[in-house]
Amino acid sequence: MSQQPAQKGFTLWFTGLSGAGKSTIAQLVAQELEARGRRVEILDGDEVRQHLSKGLGFSKEDRDTNVQRIAYVASLLTRHGAAVIVAAISPYQKARAWARERIGEFVEVYVRCPLEVCAARDVKGLYQKAYAGEIPQFTGVSDPYEPPVDPELIVDTHRETPTESAAKVIHRLEQLGYLSPAPDSAPSWLERESHWLKAKSAHADGH
Ligand code: ADX
Repeated sequence: MSQQPAQKGFTLWFTGLSGAGKSTIAQLVAQELEARGRRVEILDGDEVRQHLSKGLGFSKEDRDTNVQRIAYVASLLTRHGAAVIVAAISPYQKARAWARERIGEFVEVYVRCPLEVCAARDVKGLYQKAYAGEIPQFTGVSDPYEPPVDPELIVDTHRETPTESAAKVIHRLEQLGYLSPAPDSAPSWLERESHWLKAKSAHADGH
């Protein structure tokens, strides 16, 4: 009986402000990974906080606990070959470094977006409340966000569409050897964005 070689698990860790686009990009990347036959699990801050981290608040201590719990689950799944996608603000550098160490196969993606743009998007209406003083310790407004020091990838969501950012993530996973290059059946958005990425890097190389 022929057996497929086991695929190496990894955790794709999206960090960034609320409203930067972590969950949106996570969903697109998950779709593509599933289309390539990977087993995918998304650990999204909003959802984790309804279950695994129910009752935790937003003090530094509680956020660190939240990140540690997510990292613990991610490490178990990663060990079993899953493609894990974490989408959590995870504002503290030290906590992310801890997660990196714990998980090992760790790909940190900084989902970067200026605070003003996140606040203008205000997808959940939380920034308005935070600026009105109704939500204490709101990341970026009245609580710190420490950007990654040396992430595997940065996506700039105020200049890129979600599919552009997702395509960058997929290409980075290919570069790092976690994914084989796209099959012919790649979805149209990925193919489209791949052209865009190639054109852009040729331009950057001065071709
Ligand atoms: S983390 O800091 O512990 O990583 P997490 O990603 O789980 O945060 O949860 C962030 C989500 O909680 C935000 O997207 C927002 O919907 C909600 N939220 C509620 N209060 C706050 C707050 N004070 N700061 C940031 N996000 C908050």
